[in-house]
Amino acid sequence: MSTATVYSIETIQWTPEGVVMIDQTRLPRHTEYITCRTYVEVADAIRTMVVRGAPAIGVAAAMGVAIGALRSENLAADMPVICETLAKTRPTAVNLFWAIERMRTLYQRSVLLPPARIQEALVAEAQRIRLEDIAINEAIGRHGAPLVPDGKTVLTHCNAGALATAGFGTALGVIRAAVQAGKKIDVFADETRPFLQGARLTAWELQQDGIETTLITDSMAGHFLKSGRIGCVVVGADRIAANGDVANKIGTYGVAVLAKENGVPFYVAAPISTLDLTLATGDLIPIEERAASEVTHVQGVAVAPEGIRVANPAFDVTPNRYVTGIITEHGVASAPYEESLARLARRA
Ligand code: MRU
Repeated sequence: MSTATVYSIETIQWTPEGVVMIDQTRLPRHTEYITCRTYVEVADAIRTMVVRGAPAIGVAAAMGVAIGALRSENLAADMPVICETLAKTRPTAVNLFWAIERMRTLYQRSVLLPPARIQEALVAEAQRIRLEDIAINEAIGRHGAPLVPDGKTVLTHCNAGALATAGFGTALGVIRAAVQAGKKIDVFADETRPFLQGARLTAWELQQDGIETTLITDSMAGHFLKSGRIGCVVVGADRIAANGDVANKIGTYGVAVLAKENGVPFYVAAPISTLDLTLATGDLIPIEERAASEVTHVQGVAVAPEGIRVANPAFDVTPNRYVTGIITEHGVASAPYEESLARLARRA
């Protein structure tokens, strides 16, 4: 088994009792952990965003398959149902489907073994996916840190940190690695309406690390990008098409356009498992539509008139022409992305 650093924020873990997750709907006011004892509970935790962020929901789905298999008395009958239930939780982040596929493939390869051995193998695979994710994020950090200008501010959107992964983070991993390399940087975190991942999660996790952070509303990004103080933008991704179009949290597209307008480099940090080379362009990426109440209410308090029509796409797609580079664990891809992404993916 590969070794991985243990970080202070434990997003998701496998324990003898079940899958333990920090409840991200309760942060930053409450640091609470929930234990999912069945695959249905894991699926609910993904759907309700107790666990969120593309790599973290991939790990959660893998652990969901493992716990489903462990509780099953008829693997042949139950495995398809377990995989389908988990696959139906959220549509955009491809890491979810990647992880389920990896678990399904292992199951199919070991189907002739005694059930106890298959269950053991699936549990081990889920734990391996978690540890690999941490190591991958550290590698993303190593590739990304040199791109971060010293003495400047890094702007980020949503939460692509330890909380969105098994540990260290992708975009925040690049920031952490730059700080560890001795760069004097600070961070501007967009609050990220409507779910407030920036305000509730990024601000909290960077504060835990003692990284100097300023919280801004989404509408302030253009003002600061124009000011000359932002050295680069670094965000995560939920799915990246073969041509380098990037689906990420709603609002990312606007930040990317504003970055280009002001000559600020815009980087995307993501593992190879976030690439979906089966999709030629980002137009083919399914965009999740979430509940209207996320827009009409803030932390349970109504901020809009009752009955108002609401749109709530959870993600948008940034066209590749706005992306300066895509930082992966195998290196940094740049335009033309069809070639550079395919080359990096082949190294997986
Ligand atoms: O809806 P969420 O909170 O799951 O969306 C998360 C994001 O958009 C992240 O930026 C993305 O998953 C990358 S996380 C390393």
